[in-house]
Amino acid sequence: MHPTFVTGADASHATPIWFVTGANWAEVKSQLGASARDFADAAGFEPKAGRYLLLPGADGMLGVLFGLDAADAPAGDRFLPGRLAEILPRGTYRFANAAHDTRLAALAMALGAYRFDRYRKIPDREVRLALSNQMDGDDLSRIADGVVLARDLINTPANDMGPAELEQSARDLAARHDAQIHSIVGVELLAANFPLVHAVGRAAGQAPRLIDMSWGDKAHPKVTLVGKGVCFDTGGLDLKPSSSMLQMKKDMGGAATMMGLAHMIMDRGLKVRLRVLIPAVENSVASDAMRPRDIYTSRKGLTVEIGNTDAEGRLVLADALALADAEAPDLLVDMGTLTGAARVALGPDLPAFYTDDETWAADVARHAAAENDPVWRLPLWPPYAAMLDSKVADINNVSSGGFAGSITCALFLQRFVEAAKVWLHFDIFAWTQSSRPARPEGGECQVARALYALLKERYG
Ligand code: BES
Ligand code: MN
Ligand code: ZN
Repeated sequence: MHPTFVTGADASHATPIWFVTGANWAEVKSQLGASARDFADAAGFEPKAGRYLLLPGADGMLGVLFGLDAADAPAGDRFLPGRLAEILPRGTYRFANAAHDTRLAALAMALGAYRFDRYRKIPDREVRLALSNQMDGDDLSRIADGVVLARDLINTPANDMGPAELEQSARDLAARHDAQIHSIVGVELLAANFPLVHAVGRAAGQAPRLIDMSWGDKAHPKVTLVGKGVCFDTGGLDLKPSSSMLQMKKDMGGAATMMGLAHMIMDRGLKVRLRVLIPAVENSVASDAMRPRDIYTSRKGLTVEIGNTDAEGRLVLADALALADAEAPDLLVDMGTLTGAARVALGPDLPAFYTDDETWAADVARHAAAENDPVWRLPLWPPYAAMLDSKVADINNVSSGGFAGSITCALFLQRFVEAAKVWLHFDIFAWTQSSRPARPEGGECQVARALYALLKERYG
């Protein structure tokens, strides 16, 4: 169980939390005793989103009132109860009535309790939630643990989360779930034909590597997850300005998120043959750094001209996708913090996703909505592929003109996927800019909960 959730004996004496809206306030009020009612009125409590009140009882706290948006509010946030993790005093609580989505309300409390405490000890607030028997506490814990894993990996700065430490984290995850894992490191990448992973990572102090993890029955449908593991992105020789570089410890957010998702899949025991591929590199600057206008022959055989060394994520993903695609998986998913353009188009909280498969597109959208883990589909617009034309190689890694940056990145990656039965690509931000309920400022595990729900439905 995640530390937020308790059951059994620990759950007796739990303090009730009433979720209130304009619609049910009168009814909830009638359930409170006269003195609590009078107290709520005297305190001026109103049943509005985010308002709350701790009700005094004869010998302690009688309960908590917590206001929600109206059920049909267009901008309503089903994670609003995540704020309870911040505002409640230590203790054990239970839900006295239903939230708009009680399962998400409970999950929000666990996700909202997250603090990044690796470098500064923060006292645990010890706000516990007693779950009703109808709720699958184990599954909520599994999801919360996957999210926490991803957030911790993203928040850890590059001096403690380089390619070697990212590999070690993957090895820890593999050991926990009896998965197989191996990695190809440094010049071995050239012998094993991963030229782009090597080219991007070779200038860094820590050797680049390809991490390859496998788990589950080989007879089950093959699901392969590929995550961009750029542990720090200076931009390479086409160096980033300092304001952009400042965020780049999070450039392994795709890898971290795929590890969080892999944890959920393996812990649940989904009936899949899972493979997780992480090209782990640091995009650094040194005399042997890859240069603008270099041309590399990729694993797939396509020659790639480097228009900009800062478009490194698609390069390392290209070789990893070529490897994944070679065994024609039933589902191939890749994810990375790939473009600033996706953020310009959709903002930080709405990752872009791409696929040519209408059935899976609809399923992704449905689960994203149900899990409060939103994504927005953008088109793999074929005419824009011409923007990636090179005069000297098969393809350039950046588009001429710089328009449609997230789409052209997706079209670049699409060139390396042929045999996979279904391909999904996510261009994520992996970061919460300023704290929102259940999403404290810092690294964020976007899309994993939606994908987990989808995979549970298909392969549960
Ligand atoms: N990691 C960045 C993209 C990024 C920047 C994601 C900020 C989230 C926040 C990526 O490697 C990159 O630098 N992309 C370039 C591509 C360009 C050179 C075509 C970009 O978006 O500017
Ligand atoms: Mn870059
Ligand atoms: Zn990057």
